[in-house]
Amino acid sequence: MSPKVLVLNGPNLNMLGQREPDIYGHTTLEDIRRAVDVRAGQLKLTVDFRQTNDEGELVTWIQSARGGASAIVLNAAAYTHTSVAVLDALLACGVPVVEVHLSNIYRREEFRHHSYVSRAATGIICGFGAHGYELALEAVARLLHNEK
Ligand code: DQA
Repeated sequence: MSPKVLVLNGPNLNMLGQREPDIYGHTTLEDIRRAVDVRAGQLKLTVDFRQTNDEGELVTWIQSARGGASAIVLNAAAYTHTSVAVLDALLACGVPVVEVHLSNIYRREEFRHHSYVSRAATGIICGFGAHGYELALEAVARLLHNEK
């Protein structure tokens, strides 16, 4: 069976397409979900793609990866910069984590330069817009392949 990857999206990413298009582009989260599904199929991965505006729900989903998924691709959005709870859940989840951001957070405001998620991530992909999700899946496929 294809390994399952949780692709988790945090707050306000449901607004992609309408939200600050000069920064995030015109691609919607639904467009990203479709592109992710196609790429996952090519890489022989199964994807469970979700979005929440709720920190607790995000923590619960990350916890569910233990025993329930082979890897996590995470765009924690604003919780990236604020949430020790998300970090603690990631440290306990027991699977590789790839951190994704559409924008290059290091070219933006100072408060976006710190990521709690990065402390638990195998790697980070940021600044490539929606394409970053496909790059993250490629990284996951390579990680899982090398483990075998
Ligand atoms: C983001 C960057 C975050 O700083 C911001 O809060 C977001 C989106 C990105 O994908 O570029 O909501 O994670």
